[in-house]
Amino acid sequence: MTRPESAPWAPDTVVVSAGRPPHAVDQPVNSPIVLSSTFHSLGEPDAGEKVYGRFTNPTWDPLEETIAQLEDCELPALAYASGMAAVAAALSLLPPGGTIVIPSHAYNGSLSLVAELEKTLGLSVRRVDLADTDAAIAALAGADMAWLESPTNPMLEVADLPVLLAAAREAGVLTVVDNTFSTPLRQRPLQQGADVVVHSATKYMGGHSDVVLGAVVTRNPELRSRLHGMRTLHGAIAGPFEAWLTLRGIRTMALRLDRAEASAMELAKRLAGHPAISRVRYPGLPEDPGHQRAAEQLEGFGAIVAIEVAGGAEAADAMLAKLLLWTPATSLGGVESLAERRRRHPGEPGTVPDNLVRLSVGIENVEDLHVDLTAALG
Ligand SMILES: Cc1ncc(COP(=O)(O)O)c(C=O)c1O
Repeated sequence: MTRPESAPWAPDTVVVSAGRPPHAVDQPVNSPIVLSSTFHSLGEPDAGEKVYGRFTNPTWDPLEETIAQLEDCELPALAYASGMAAVAAALSLLPPGGTIVIPSHAYNGSLSLVAELEKTLGLSVRRVDLADTDAAIAALAGADMAWLESPTNPMLEVADLPVLLAAAREAGVLTVVDNTFSTPLRQRPLQQGADVVVHSATKYMGGHSDVVLGAVVTRNPELRSRLHGMRTLHGAIAGPFEAWLTLRGIRTMALRLDRAEASAMELAKRLAGHPAISRVRYPGLPEDPGHQRAAEQLEGFGAIVAIEVAGGAEAADAMLAKLLLWTPATSLGGVESLAERRRRHPGEPGTVPDNLVRLSVGIENVEDLHVDLTAALG
């Protein structure tokens, strides 16, 4: 699919139109799944040959092309076995014994992996409050990599991403942005100067809680070539069926996100006044500390709301046990609404309140979602 330079399609068109076979008689409308672990190949393999299913699979191509177009990247994305495989791949760009700046709040898998590398590989780690721009910039001096996530999971803090990315560039620090929460429909970090973007496509891209997959995107050919080589050697590749399902999910991402985001806004407003809730975090609420930045930087406030249940962790667990429509489960970004008390995970930072319940708002009827939540809150 070529995108005319003069009239690039809008992102909500790209999700539908990118990565299709050419318009020609007898071509399928959807790209096929290729289930083959190896490909006809003779003699010394040419650089362009497929060769083997760990090196390449034609089912990845339309997915990688589509994610790249969405992130405004000329080079194809790289698909991985999971979001964490994508995170690990990006972290492998660090030099031995390097220094990384990470947010004190972010997806706990990424934080735990960095903590593990700190112990085992002598990585030097600087943990900062990303919402505090001055502190984050001060931490960049002499670092090798800045790991950025905004809004953060699950606290929904909003970083001043353009300013941090510019400061990192000036300081010669490689930047990686986990764009899972915002999706490229709401934030395109490469346009703001990020070197690398990672995704858990398990979330909004897949969108149906039926696939685990990750992606890395970079405009830098040298970085992409290193990542590509390491993916082949590490073998953290996406299964062809998972790649196909993820692309199928992306086709409706714009619709799903619009609907879920509108419901998240409505629920956040209503829950903000609820007596059984001590605090609602949602960047779309005018009183939220991240609101101003989010309004300036994001093309939408997203579909994750965090609530703190009055009465503590026990009251939060009691509420979760009473839900009939919302599913008490981890993960986010699916069509079905999920709720989870994040501190039930031992890896969650202790500064995340233990009564904080992360709501991943799905696409059900918003009144039903509200009725179910308020009934469970009692
Ligand atoms: C922001 C973020 N990044 C990365 C991941 C890891 O992705 P996966 O579960 O696909 O490995 C998650 C998973 O919850 C996440 O929320």
